[in-house]
Amino acid sequence: MTFREITTNGVPGLFDVRTSVRENTYTREDLYRDGITEKTVAEMISTTHCGWLCEVNSKIVGFAMANGRTGEFSVIAVFPEYEMRGIGSKLLLLAEDWLRSIGWEEIWLWTSLDTNLKAYAFYRNRGWTDAEIRTNQRIMKKRIGK
Ligand SMILES: CC(C)(COP(=O)(O)OP(=O)(O)OC[C@H]1O[C@@H](n2cnc3c(N)ncnc32)[C@H](O)[C@@H]1OP(=O)(O)O)[C@@H](O)C(=O)NCCC(=O)NCCS
Repeated sequence: MTFREITTNGVPGLFDVRTSVRENTYTREDLYRDGITEKTVAEMISTTHCGWLCEVNSKIVGFAMANGRTGEFSVIAVFPEYEMRGIGSKLLLLAEDWLRSIGWEEIWLWTSLDTNLKAYAFYRNRGWTDAEIRTNQRIMKKRIGK
């Protein structure tokens, strides 16, 4: 299992992971409709965002991205078959460390209102707290500064 920074040629594999999860699901059509395409993600990685992926035998099994311009933890997804092995935790840590290294003291994310989803406990157990509810989504925050 290896972790490395996402480069633009790794972007297509991210879509396979993001569209294969069982909770907080998105189809490719959903993503494209929201303007999230291989092209726009490659642009993000080259400009505002940084991301990390986890590979097992050269296959991408998980990834996360953060927005350095806004302090948002933008996305995380791990293939269902590879959950519960610490991959999500490591990816989250890489993103938090990067956001801290570029000066953010408080970071934030959007997630579902559904507290039964694994993501909610995952974030809560890693120091994230509920901040506000906006347009049917939950905003969570985490202080990472001194
Ligand atoms: C949320 C998500 C990223 C977590 O990824 P993951 O790789 O399973 O995360 P981890 O393995 O690091 O941690 C998950 C849990 O397994 C536990 N765990 C990790 N390694 C373990 C191991 N070897 N044995 C047993 N349990 C383990 C962790 O303690 C953690 O539980 P906790 O939150 O109670 O502490 C993943 O479930 C996912 O992709 N969900 C769908 C997409 C999604 O919801 N994304 C977020 C949208 S906002």
